[in-house]
Amino acid sequence: MALDERKGVWKSGKGKGRHTPKGRQYEDQALQEVQVLLGPQPRERDLLIEFVHLIQDEYGHLSAAHLRALAEEMRLSMAEIYEVASFYAHFDVVKEGETPPPALTIRVCDSLSCELAGAANLQKALQDGLDPSQVRVLRAPCMGRCDTAPVLELGHNHIDHATVEAVERAIAAQATHPIIPDYETLSEYQQNGGYRALQELRQSGDWEALQDKVLASGLRGLGGAGFPSGKKWGFVRANEGPRYLAVNGDEGEPGTFKDRYYLERMPHLFLEGMLMAAWAVEAEKAFIYMRDEYPAVLKILADEIAALEAAGLVPAGYIDLRRGAGAYICGEESAMIESIEGKRGMPRHRPPFVAQVGIFGRPTLVHNVETLHWVCRIAREGPQILSSVEKNGRTGLRSYSVSGRVQNPGVYLLPAGSTITDIIAASGGMAQGHAFKAYQPGGPSSGLLPASMNDIPLDFDTLQPHGSFIGSAAVVVLSDQDRARDAALNMLRFFEDESCGQCTPCRVGCEKAVKLMQSESWDQPLLGELCTAMQDASICGLGQAAPNPILMTMKHFSDEI
Ligand SMILES: Cc1cc2nc3c(=O)[nH]c(=O)nc-3n(C[C@H](O)[C@H](O)[C@H](O)COP(=O)(O)O)c2cc1C
Ligand code: SF4
Ligand code: FES
Repeated sequence: MALDERKGVWKSGKGKGRHTPKGRQYEDQALQEVQVLLGPQPRERDLLIEFVHLIQDEYGHLSAAHLRALAEEMRLSMAEIYEVASFYAHFDVVKEGETPPPALTIRVCDSLSCELAGAANLQKALQDGLDPSQVRVLRAPCMGRCDTAPVLELGHNHIDHATVEAVERAIAAQATHPIIPDYETLSEYQQNGGYRALQELRQSGDWEALQDKVLASGLRGLGGAGFPSGKKWGFVRANEGPRYLAVNGDEGEPGTFKDRYYLERMPHLFLEGMLMAAWAVEAEKAFIYMRDEYPAVLKILADEIAALEAAGLVPAGYIDLRRGAGAYICGEESAMIESIEGKRGMPRHRPPFVAQVGIFGRPTLVHNVETLHWVCRIAREGPQILSSVEKNGRTGLRSYSVSGRVQNPGVYLLPAGSTITDIIAASGGMAQGHAFKAYQPGGPSSGLLPASMNDIPLDFDTLQPHGSFIGSAAVVVLSDQDRARDAALNMLRFFEDESCGQCTPCRVGCEKAVKLMQSESWDQPLLGELCTAMQDASICGLGQAAPNPILMTMKHFSDEI
């Protein structure tokens, strides 16, 4: 075939060739800007989310030019960059021709405790009162500050008990940065004997002796699943190294704020516990996955990790602090691992379990922040700090995050056999003018129980016969002024927003449930069928537990629907 019969496909060498490869080209200026932001860091695939954060922080959004430049710099396809950037709520992807968001963003929490405290009116007043070209007002899920509801985040400054006036004052003062609370620093912690137990273990310790102590204490995973903590170490060690440790600091279950409570006061109890667990499984590296909603904690941890490195207690780079980007599902351990690898937070199918195939395909020990806090206390003070506490036939202690209609919301460390009556009493009783009606025992995944069921110890295994579970012990108390059906709808809206979307029963089921639950009279047979499909065919705990608020409202509050 003669060359000129296939114009545009073959070139004779005399004509004009393409100046560039096919596809979207990068712009020199955008590439330079991205290179400056990334600095000398290695362009590793797992750092993608960290790099996207750098661009979002600097420019307030992600332009098509910057994303293309990042793809070039990391030698990744645009599709890979785009699918990650568009997965996470804290990234603003702005396509060509679109207007970037204004410089300032307010996120108003609309999860249950904040809704009870008037979040909807607050959001509307802010939207009506502020100039949308200067400030945008978005709704957002629980920020882990339910004890000071309603809460919002102005830039990265959280405003507790928020009002329009408080927001206006903060904007005028340009107060958009996190406020760092007083906490126990490394030197203070060391003065109280901190890190001695770790050093002794490293010098002459026997990991099985520590494991025995943890098992004897009865400690179970405090992220929600309640798996016996010491046992997990054995599973991870059974797989050949290199192994990793990953800390789950995502704390996204609405109503939960216990991890933040401990991290903002005594971060080294957790850090020492983490290093003990890492030592026990001979982890090559410890990753901390911390939610982006906790900017003060991120700063505290960055500073204290640097202090640990300077003191020679950990090699530089051994602890790798990673920042989430606003996705509840990344609290599910396999989704968290995907996110640590720089990908979308989609839960993996199991088996294999993360103890066998975790970060970068290696055996990984995953623990919740508070679990590690207790590992340290058990190592330092002995297993009896948990095993000697008995109440209502249950053993141990539980950090209940309490919010809603109580006098003094907060974190209460109580015996694990405590009932809702004990928890309300510890929280100063019901708020004035409110009579106890119902409660969420452990996050929205645990549904709602009526006030009449007030004698159940709120612990692992005790709630299952009632179609519920303790999860992260996030207790929200409702009163005679609240409707259970509204609370259940709030919970399903949360699951609808946060479903990662990879399985149809969960993605479509949450959306359909929200629609059905808005009807004055619920179509209960249809909702029942939907719940069964979601429970049976969802691959992770989000879709499996999302029906709980629906089923429990139908069972205990049928007069409302
Ligand atoms: C939808 C979903 C969300 C979760 N969110 C969290 C979380 O925010 N923090 C956490 O520690 N565990 C969370 N978990 C539990 C983790 O998958 C995992 O069991 C836990 O981090 C293990 O640590 P532990 O044994 O110390 O509890 C979640 C699980 C599911 C199914
Ligand atoms: S159950 Fe829902 S959140 Fe979990 S993997 Fe499926 S779609 Fe994603
Ligand atoms: S901070 Fe609003 S519900 Fe938790």
